Amino acid sequence: GANSMWGGRFAGGVDAIMEAINASIGYDKRLYGQDIAGSRAHAAMLAAQGIITAEDRAAIDAGLVQVQGEIEAGTFTFRPALEDIHMNIEARLKEIIGEPAGRLHTARSRNDQVAVDFRLWVRDQADAVVTGLDSLMRAFLAQAEAGADWVMPGFTHLQTAQPVTWGHHMLAYVEMLGRDKSRFEDARRRMNECPLGAAALAGTSFPIDRHATAAALGFDRPTANSLDSVSDRDFALEFLSAASICAMHLSRFAEELVIWSSAQFRFVRLSDAFTTGSSIMPQKKNPDAAELIRAKLGRILGATVALFTIMKGLALTYSKDMQEDKEQVFDAADNLMLGIAAMEGMVKDMTANQDALAVAAASGFSTATDLADWLVRSLNLPFREAHHVTGSLVAMAEKKGCDLPDLGLAEMQSAHSGITEEVYSVLGVDNSVRSRVSYGGTAPANVRAQVARWKEILG
Ligand code: ARG
Repeated sequence: GANSMWGGRFAGGVDAIMEAINASIGYDKRLYGQDIAGSRAHAAMLAAQGIITAEDRAAIDAGLVQVQGEIEAGTFTFRPALEDIHMNIEARLKEIIGEPAGRLHTARSRNDQVAVDFRLWVRDQADAVVTGLDSLMRAFLAQAEAGADWVMPGFTHLQTAQPVTWGHHMLAYVEMLGRDKSRFEDARRRMNECPLGAAALAGTSFPIDRHATAAALGFDRPTANSLDSVSDRDFALEFLSAASICAMHLSRFAEELVIWSSAQFRFVRLSDAFTTGSSIMPQKKNPDAAELIRAKLGRILGATVALFTIMKGLALTYSKDMQEDKEQVFDAADNLMLGIAAMEGMVKDMTANQDALAVAAASGFSTATDLADWLVRSLNLPFREAHHVTGSLVAMAEKKGCDLPDLGLAEMQSAHSGITEEVYSVLGVDNSVRSRVSYGGTAPANVRAQVARWKEILG
């Protein structure tokens, strides 16, 4: 038969395929809590404004509470024929309370209804991500504090560059995650305007109070333009964009864990809780969680691109294309939360192999820059010349198959006669990292100061 919500102008029912392509109930049922909160705020406002009676409002409110209970108890029957969560709830409300249910939709459309529901959902998710990032940052911070002076190689091009401290490397991620957090907080501030009351697209002739519903739902204010209110999905795009950047950061550390936990590096040992074995190779301990976190960016960024592409060609205001916004955001949010939690578990559990880190830090001519700097400081060589002299010593050591500190003084002096015994003091990795005290540099003293700063910030 014709749809009971708009059956007035329809004679026939819809094709089964139409029902399948049209229905969003399979995924937008996740919005039930937001939908009921929005409806209760709307009904309260309608009654306060004298648009519906207090009795009708009371019936609607009690009915909505009952519907929420049924959904949470698992006794609610979701019907695809009713398309989406909004109409499923309203239809059930009508079964429970009868005629007053039909008054709930006064001065409202599904267009502003879905816009407010989805905003509320994304707002909650932004808060959840911020909380998750807080704990993840604390996990990195604990690693940084423990290893403020453990040396390890710093890389560029994944080639040994200069020695750095473990703590400094961990703090690099705290910085990234701190920016991620601020992106979610910032997006939340901008999205916190209430579209409810924009109705279908043009506003309404009923004397509604949009400030009241906005306040009741925890928004800072109502949105100012009804057309924009029902067609804007910036808030979802901002969430997805922030999620993509955050997932990219997680993916980079995941990649480092994959490399670091390999037998060739042995920089870290991952816990049994976040690794898997092999059914054929008994020695294996695979960093599956890290690999999956690395892969999550693929789908999160995919969701971001999908929603941009869905939105880009839509003339104002609402088009049904926009129904496809939710699955993208749900999937991205779920996987980001999972990735953050898994990363936190891995970071908490991982054990740095200090010996392997120290050996690696001292190899690969990692203190060549320190040698060049010493030539500048002690012999007043121009840096370019110091670079050249050091380069010839690196070539000499490489030919001999040894490291820079293994060259004798006479060999050193063959590259520059002014070199003295003192040079050996700067070739050690501990001295190297201790010397890098410039603001933001890797020195253990700096790391400790930054750990203290972040502890203060995270509380
Ligand atoms: N299920 C729809 C969505 O997610 C709700 C809005 C429907 N509005 C409409 N004019 N058909 O977008």
